[in-house]
Amino acid sequence: MTWQLDDIPDQTGRTILVTGCTIGGLGHQTSLELARRGAQVILAGRNEPRLRQTEAAIVDEVPTAELRRLVIDLADLASVRRAVESVESLDVLVNNAGIMAPAYSRTVDGFESQLGTNHFGPFLLTGLLLPLLRTAGEAGHDARVVTVSSQMHRATRSAPLGDPRVEHGHYLRWPEYAQSKLANLLFTFELDRRLREADIPVRALAAHPGFAGTHLVANGQLGRTTGTVASILETTVKAVSQSPADGALPTLMAVTADLPGATYCGPSGLGEARGAPRIVGASSLAHDADAQRRLWELSEEAVGLSYP
Ligand SMILES: NC(=O)c1ccc[n+]([C@@H]2O[C@H](COP(=O)([O-])OP(=O)(O)OC[C@H]3O[C@@H](n4cnc5c(N)ncnc54)[C@H](OP(=O)(O)O)[C@@H]3O)[C@@H](O)[C@H]2O)c1
Repeated sequence: MTWQLDDIPDQTGRTILVTGCTIGGLGHQTSLELARRGAQVILAGRNEPRLRQTEAAIVDEVPTAELRRLVIDLADLASVRRAVESVESLDVLVNNAGIMAPAYSRTVDGFESQLGTNHFGPFLLTGLLLPLLRTAGEAGHDARVVTVSSQMHRATRSAPLGDPRVEHGHYLRWPEYAQSKLANLLFTFELDRRLREADIPVRALAAHPGFAGTHLVANGQLGRTTGTVASILETTVKAVSQSPADGALPTLMAVTADLPGATYCGPSGLGEARGAPRIVGASSLAHDADAQRRLWELSEEAVGLSYP
């Protein structure tokens, strides 16, 4: 059964933090629809002027929107630790921000940039915000962690289980992206299991957008979204993909639909590339309990935080 935007119930009283909210991306659309339905949305991103632009665009459409901005660089663990200090209450964390297949670099903490930004930063952010999510859940709120993965999680045969601060051979940008998106699912399934075992009333779910015409390709391939080449690339991507608004639907489903923990939402069309969202499956490697546990333990060590 598919799901649609009209299925979102009133979100008044829910505080939802969405990472990666730059205009034109999935986080912007996710934040817009949640704000439209009364949620207080914390717009989280690494660039304050871009957050202000998103805030203005949402207020333009939804004058009553309750928004806050939170500057956070997921590629910098110290920035993640600083950012959470100003969050006082939270019902839902949406780990949406991500990068795809950029040129090789390492984060300030020494991780390959994709694994650092797409997995280790969100892993730490989730752990630091979990006490607030737990408080919300124990007060009877519908508390969740929703992490945005990708069909690309299927494009790798191995989980990223090596020492993350050591280079493992020649950098291959697409396999590294695939591993980081596999990590999103291993993380979600392990988090949900650990939450249930610890009797913590918070659910972990995942979503993927299929293929959506956002800034992801230009950001990764060119490192920018302005200029003639970027504009040609973005126009080409948009011509063959679904809109960012449609791409955000699986995330919105995972945030608002009545679903059990460990549910994965994605488009219902051919190859899950586009279409109305529904519950979808993940690769067998994403369900490998040993890989889930090993990635969790390795991540705790890497970011210096054990939870739940
Ligand atoms: N679009 C697709 O077809 C597709 C398919 C599968 C999965 N996804 C996933 O969807 C998610 C959203 O991507 P998108 O398509 O909306 O791409 P996007 O338009 O490039 O948006 C990515 C967002 O992440 C932010 N971000 C990047 N690095 C960050 C960092 N170090 N700290 C904080 N924020 C950071 C970006 O901020 P800046 O603007 O400052 O760079 C931007 O707001 C990603 O996790 C991606 O892997 C997308």
